[in-house]
Amino acid sequence: MTNQTSSKSNSVQVSHLRCIGCSTVFEKAQQNFRCASCNDLLEIVYPDWNTSDATRLDAAKLRALWRQRRTSGLPADESGVWRFRELLPSFDEKDVISLREGNTPLYEMPGCARIAGLPQLYAKHQGMNPTGSFKDTGMTVAASVARRGGFRWVACASTGNTSASMAAYAARSEMRSLVLIPEGKVSWGKLSQALDYGAVTCQLKTDFDGCMRVLNEVVQRMPVYLLNSVNPYRLEGQKTAAIELMEQLGWQPPDHIIVPGGNLGNSSALGKAFIEMRQLELISRLPKVSIIQAAGANPLVRTMRENGGKELISVQAETAASAIRIGNPASWKKAVRVLQATGGTVEEVSEVEIALAKAEIGADGIGCEPASAVTLAGLKKLVKQGFVKPGERVILILTGHLLKDPEFTLKFHRGDLLTGTASEKEVSILRPQQRAPIVLDATVDAVVQTLKKADDKLEA
Ligand code: F0G
Repeated sequence: MTNQTSSKSNSVQVSHLRCIGCSTVFEKAQQNFRCASCNDLLEIVYPDWNTSDATRLDAAKLRALWRQRRTSGLPADESGVWRFRELLPSFDEKDVISLREGNTPLYEMPGCARIAGLPQLYAKHQGMNPTGSFKDTGMTVAASVARRGGFRWVACASTGNTSASMAAYAARSEMRSLVLIPEGKVSWGKLSQALDYGAVTCQLKTDFDGCMRVLNEVVQRMPVYLLNSVNPYRLEGQKTAAIELMEQLGWQPPDHIIVPGGNLGNSSALGKAFIEMRQLELISRLPKVSIIQAAGANPLVRTMRENGGKELISVQAETAASAIRIGNPASWKKAVRVLQATGGTVEEVSEVEIALAKAEIGADGIGCEPASAVTLAGLKKLVKQGFVKPGERVILILTGHLLKDPEFTLKFHRGDLLTGTASEKEVSILRPQQRAPIVLDATVDAVVQTLKKADDKLEA
């Protein structure tokens, strides 16, 4: 796809689809977003950024333009994605479907910093997007491409968040949406979103990887537009979290970015953003982007450790962090490239470590869904290993809102989250964080006694 910008940027943008394997350039993607020659994934590239200084975007002008747009009331400027449209494929503003996504907070996490052994720690909370996850930043771009292309139907396979986001953006633009999710493995919060936003929701008797296999066949047969993260327009939108983060940090890159890994689209997108921002001299150096997976869903960790990222080792995935219960990640090659380009690492964390870290993030008054908590759990390990040093600046990327999976949280506090699992014998380390609801007689005395007891406990 090649098109001219309609925005008031200081340069004309041209973008191409290019295969990450054989570098063939395409005008238009196939239905499955794979290279017609070698079947690898596609990425969006901006050829002008490599040519001469004359056509390059000017970093100082871009920063000023983006800052100025924060006071604008135009829909595209109010979106935390489209505000950075000079680093996205060009769009006519009338084609943009936006829920004012992005604009997410960067929180200081003092309790988590102490626990991890760092003087300071920050979390960029992508769960504060309109549908409660980072998916919205990519969905606004890819859904807009679908509408511009005249598609009536969009579709995805999902562990829940992609489907919630896709269904919302489709509903906003009068497109129909088809959702394939693994039966019994998607949290109720996410499932109920897809239903309310009007998606045709199919619970398949398989896992996420099985849903993906089925959908890849469906899109070959039917004129539906695929909105999984193999769609490179999704990743372009997801890049903007990194751009917004750098703006929040005054364009001073941190030392480390820690991100959860599932299908590996998000880590690929964030890494691409940092690489492009350095190319455009918006930042002077790259942060190390490290990817954390659940030990029960660790294909990238195994791939890096066992063959240095040459060949994907798929696994049969199992974790209570259902968002990242993925054994055959589509974007693994892109993620390996990011690890290699930024000097980041991979780590895996156990079910107990995830549960504990999630409660610790909650105790800082922030909260997140289980998949996001792998970041803190992984960081603790990276500090112990010396990969993250005490004086270094670290940003955790929290990907989903606490309320996405309330069942996990309730089970955690009631003490039965890991009952009947292999982790059952380790649960004693979770007790200090557990706060089960207390059932009392409806009397003042009962409440006062409980308050006193809790206060004594706090002082002890
Ligand atoms: N965190 C959350 C909350 C997610 O929903 C996902 C992925 C990830 C992390 C991992 O991101 O796949 O880009 O590496 N959820 C997808 C879905 C797969 O269908 O909602 P990734």
